[in-house]
This record gives sequence, structure tokens and C-alpha cells, in this order.
Amino acid sequence: MSVETKASILPLDSRVDGDGHLIVGGCDTVDLADRFGTPLYVYDEATIRTRCREYRDSLAHAYAHSLVIYASKAFTSPMLLQILAQEGLGLDVVSGGELYVAQRVGFPMERVYFHGNNKGADELQMALELGIGRIVIDSFHELELLGRLARERGTRAPCLLRLSPGIDAHTHDYRKTGILDSKFGFPISTGQAEEAVRQVVATPSLELLGFHAHVGSQIFELAPYQETIGVVLDFAVEMRKGHHVELQEFSPGGGWGIAYTPEDDPRPTREVATMVGETVGVELARRGLGEPRVFVEPGRSIVGQAGVAL
Ligand SMILES: Cc1ncc(COP(=O)(O)O)c(C=O)c1O
Repeated sequence: MSVETKASILPLDSRVDGDGHLIVGGCDTVDLADRFGTPLYVYDEATIRTRCREYRDSLAHAYAHSLVIYASKAFTSPMLLQILAQEGLGLDVVSGGELYVAQRVGFPMERVYFHGNNKGADELQMALELGIGRIVIDSFHELELLGRLARERGTRAPCLLRLSPGIDAHTHDYRKTGILDSKFGFPISTGQAEEAVRQVVATPSLELLGFHAHVGSQIFELAPYQETIGVVLDFAVEMRKGHHVELQEFSPGGGWGIAYTPEDDPRPTREVATMVGETVGVELARRGLGEPRVFVEPGRSIVGQAGVAL
């Protein structure tokens, strides 16, 4: 029996066999439950690899100088991170624990991005010690702390600033992160984002490479991404004029919605990645901003469909 009605909820290679057992990726889930006990989380590697490749290839096709960064708060395990590394993805971590897993499996540190609005001094130290790719600064407190820690180590920390673009993505209130009073990032419209740029530029131990924004999760519309791209790139133009900051890197975030019920109908991954890549290319060219490296940061849309809870 096929499980077509739930095709977008279950892993790609799922079916129900003649005994009524759910088979995922060739494995009988009843056998898995007998063998390992429940509750048991089962992830299908083929679905994860397919999603990684769709994001990676579609984005690169639309905008070559790009990288897909997996937002590991969606799910982290050593095996998963190894698969992502093989697929050429980067990694978004938000804690020392996730960073530790990345280190243990030899995830290429230059592709690891440290996000989050509550990084401790010990976690920032660890990131600097490991030579993490980028630290995404979320607040004035963190800006000052990271600047000091990097100076004490005699190094320059490569960083991005998280901006709050004032965009209201149509998702649940608790998942909105781009609105002005969200607890994430530097609001552009209040002048705090520009003040953050001024402070980073004045801190020799920090190297400002660009800007990041993430306006929420479980977003099904393309418009919030398009708006975010426009608002952040306008800001980048201002920062080039006012502070001689060249945009080398830019991320409009992640948050693409997935199907939690058969009624949810997200657009395919390829379409989302293509739209982001194309929009960024057009909007950069329109503003004469060169060709910075562009990131997207999907989390749940890479692993959600691959996972089954038994
Ligand atoms: C900074 C950042 N990037 C990306 C994501 C990915 O979100 P999602 O798993 O919804 O794609 C999140 C989620 O909270 C995030 O905070």
C-alpha cells in the first residue's frame, strides 16, 4: 500500500508493506522499534541528501558565489553533521554544545557560523580557539565582549551583524524574528544597526564581512524574503557610503516552511533556493554592490521530512 496522501510528511522512500508495517528507506520500522525500543527517532539519509543537493545546486545555479548553511537547531547528531559536510554545506550553531559536536566529527570550521542572541564568553572563546568561520553578532553586549576576547587572543574575529529589518513574516507570533521588537539583532530603522556598524569598524579586533537577517520560521511565502533582501541591501549601500564597509557576505536567513500536516503545502525547495539566488543577484546588481558571498540557512526544511518518531 502506498502512503501517497502523506508523501510530503514522510521520508521520500516510504511505503506500507503487506503486513501493514511502515517501511522507511528499506527499513521496517516495526523491526527498528523491536530492536532499539521506543521512543525512537529515525532519520532517512536519502531524504536529507536530496534536500541538501536541491538547496545547494539550485542556489548555486541562480547565484554561483553561495553557500547553504544548515541551521542545526533543527536537529544535530554526529552522523548528520558528517552527511552535511560531505554534501558541502555549512553549519549554523547556536551553542557550545553544537560547536562541540561539529568539532568532534571534524566539520570544516571555516564553514561554521555562530548564531544566537545569548552566546557566553566561554562559547565565544571556544569559537575563537577553534577558528570558527564567522560569528554573527547579535547585540551591543556581544559586540563589546567579542571585541575584547579577540583582542586578548591577539586575533581578528571574522563577523557578520544580525540585522532586524522590520519585516513582519506571516507566521506564528512566537516564530517572528525580523520585527522591530524581536529579541534578535540590531534594528535598522532605529539607527542601532548603523551604530553597531560604527562600533565594529572602530574595533580593530573585529573584521566586519557583512550582514545577516532571519525574519522567522515556518514561512510559506516568498515575499518576506524578497523584502528582507531589499531592506538589508539598501542598508548595505548606506553603510558603504557612510562607513566605507564593502559587503563581502550576506545572508537573508532560513525559515522555509514544511508540512506538519497533510494540509500544509510548501513550495519545493528548489523553487525557494532559486528565488533567493535570483532575487539577490538582481538586487545586488541594481545597487552596484558587487558579488558578495550569499548564504541561505534552512534548518527544518532539510531534516523535517526525513524524520519519523516511533
Ligand atoms: C539565525 C537562524 N537561521 C536559520 C534558522 C532556520 O530556521 P528553520 O529551521 O525554520 O529553517 C533559524 C531558526 O530559528 C535561525 O534562528
